[in-house]
Amino acid sequence: MQIVPVELADRSYEVTVGEGARHELARVVADAVPGARRAVVVTQEGIGIEVETGLPTEVFTVPDGESAKSLTVLEELCRGFARSGLSRADVVVAVGGGVVTDLAGFAAASFHRGTPYVNVATSLLAQVDAAIGGKTGVNIPEGKNLVGAFWQPSAVLCDTEVLATLPPREWASGRGEVAKYALLGISTYLGGPPTADQPVDDQVARCAAIKSAVVSADEREGDRRMLLNYGHTLAHALEASAFGDDERDLRHGEAVAVGLVYAALLARRLGRIDDARVEYHRRVVGAFDLASGLPAGCDPEQLLSFMARDKKAQGDITFVLDGPDGVEVVRGIDRADVVATLSDMESAP
Ligand code: GLY
Repeated sequence: MQIVPVELADRSYEVTVGEGARHELARVVADAVPGARRAVVVTQEGIGIEVETGLPTEVFTVPDGESAKSLTVLEELCRGFARSGLSRADVVVAVGGGVVTDLAGFAAASFHRGTPYVNVATSLLAQVDAAIGGKTGVNIPEGKNLVGAFWQPSAVLCDTEVLATLPPREWASGRGEVAKYALLGISTYLGGPPTADQPVDDQVARCAAIKSAVVSADEREGDRRMLLNYGHTLAHALEASAFGDDERDLRHGEAVAVGLVYAALLARRLGRIDDARVEYHRRVVGAFDLASGLPAGCDPEQLLSFMARDKKAQGDITFVLDGPDGVEVVRGIDRADVVATLSDMESAP
């Protein structure tokens, strides 16, 4: 097992990465939440992974898919926790991907104004991103993750054995986030960024170490943590504009892959990087076996309006962009450059 510490003073915790990491849960709960007398497990039907908490446990199965991240499901969960007799000294265990860790984490943040929780992350996307760093929340019709809290887990388990059952597009989605870490250019005590030819355990551990370093430096998302949104401005716009459209529907990480190459082209247009650096972005995204073309039929004006509403923006258009000093937050980007760069993109085959 590889252990990646997340240093946050009295809220520090460990991320355990490796095959069979889920079997460490009872020990981790006993170590990280020593006062717990009972546990609740939150999971989804489609996850199908049983865990042993080492405590009397009630399992709550929420609906499959993103629809579980709702205030209605949150209320049902918290009412269930109350009926189960869960106290604020006990523990919530999230077993699943980002939907489950976001929802169960927010339920834990809210229940008794803050109950400990442990994430058992079962998707590549959750292992390298969602399960680490304490962003929790649910969606409302007005926007994704608009209701939530920063609430750090007490421990995170990234079991790479369970990734074997992931559908191919879920793998691809996770690889999009790994490609993001590869292009951020941040080295940690584990070495340089992840590469596509490393074993998956090492990729996950390196991503976790980068995320840990960023979150430790900037838990509440000033400019440093915003770097984790590299490639996400266009990605979120693509996801929002493709909503309900099966033809153009992209998984999150697939959209991030497109967004990374777009961000490189925008940085080149703004004179921040050269052609070779754009090619490097394309090569890295390709090495993770991801496409970087713009889906057919995208409407540039619609994408622009979504990008202008991105949460990084504060009345202007803001991107995370590569440049001479590495990747950084750049504000006040001209709308004309944003639209013109969309025309520089290749179309997806
Ligand atoms: N997923 C980006 C972050 O945790 O800040």
